[in-house]
Amino acid sequence: MNTQRLQLGTFGTNLAPGITFTTIPGALTTEWSRVKDLALRAEAMDFEAIVPISRWKGYGGEHNPHSDAYETLTWAAAVGAVTTSARIFATVSMPVVHPVIAAKQMATIDHVTGGRSGINVLAGWFRPEMGMFGTDLLPHDRRYDMADEWLAVVKQAWSDPEEFDMHGEFFDLSGVFSMPKPLSERPRIMNAAMSGRGLEFALQNADQIYIKLNDDRDAAAAQVADIKRQAREKYDRDIEVWTFGYVVDADTESAARDFLQDYAGTHGMHDAAVNALKIMGVEAEVAGDNTTAARRFNWVAGDGGVPFVGTPAQVADGLEWVSDTGVDGCLLGWPLWEEGMTRFSERVLPLLVDRGIRVSH
Ligand SMILES: Cc1cc2nc3c(=O)[nH]c(=O)nc-3n(C[C@H](O)[C@H](O)[C@H](O)COP(=O)(O)O)c2cc1C
Repeated sequence: MNTQRLQLGTFGTNLAPGITFTTIPGALTTEWSRVKDLALRAEAMDFEAIVPISRWKGYGGEHNPHSDAYETLTWAAAVGAVTTSARIFATVSMPVVHPVIAAKQMATIDHVTGGRSGINVLAGWFRPEMGMFGTDLLPHDRRYDMADEWLAVVKQAWSDPEEFDMHGEFFDLSGVFSMPKPLSERPRIMNAAMSGRGLEFALQNADQIYIKLNDDRDAAAAQVADIKRQAREKYDRDIEVWTFGYVVDADTESAARDFLQDYAGTHGMHDAAVNALKIMGVEAEVAGDNTTAARRFNWVAGDGGVPFVGTPAQVADGLEWVSDTGVDGCLLGWPLWEEGMTRFSERVLPLLVDRGIRVSH
């Protein structure tokens, strides 16, 4: 039973430079010793989840962020082997990973972790990486028709002791068999779809739906309530809602804002953010306004997540706000992970405990 009012986790420790598109020295790199250390730090803070980003190609521009990325299933197995308490997710792009392979890899990760595995399934949006696999994106809503079949294969492979066939529209498979089964009932399923058809897929299948939270307080609370209501009313399911953000804290608000300007303004990878947003705007059904300077800046500063910027108390205020919207969990990232996590542990977490948002074990 989870006792935390707001569950916490890390997002994007498997790739460079993490969720902040910055060239400042000390930004995240793909060095296993660091990546492992960040997982252990997350567990030392009792974080509930460690979630990677699936990326096969970067966003281009001068520095090509996210071009340097650990593959997430092998990463999850390795992180799973060195951790003991957090749920370890693999983020899997369904169009490029065969479901029979994914099912068995997830069962393996579930054994390695003693039942702490999760899968964040993606229907795909980043067209430049599809050619590497000799394929292309389907039209938007068809991606979720494929996802339905993909997940049906995976779920049956996790549960069916016998061989089975799947003669679908996208997969024509005979004698599918997968052992061992996951240790847990099944890995937890996460999905970050936002569009009409995508949201329907998420409501039906995800245990945790992962959203970009509306900036406006009332709108955010309504957004979360609406997702939970729809899951209950349409599919009789209770689902958790998760979001993500980036933490930039300092002793004073102005020092935190100066640092934000430095890493994301002066040393930000702006050309890459524009590339990513343009592609997302073309490929996603509900992409919002991808052209404003503020949205572009927020993408550079933290992949478009909630900004938690200011003093430790202001960071705690932000997390309290997120919790008050009804969000169940929030994944976090930092421009300088090691320093940032140390400060978060020493200065922000105690405030969250004082406010009853977190319980310390
Ligand atoms: C919190 C969050 C995490 C995401 N993680 C990834 C990821 O790791 N890799 C990726 O290609 N896309 C990722 N996405 C992008 C979603 O897959 C994309 O927004 C989705 O396909 C668009 O929604 P739609 O298909 O409903 O239009 C993420 C999106 C959100 C909001």
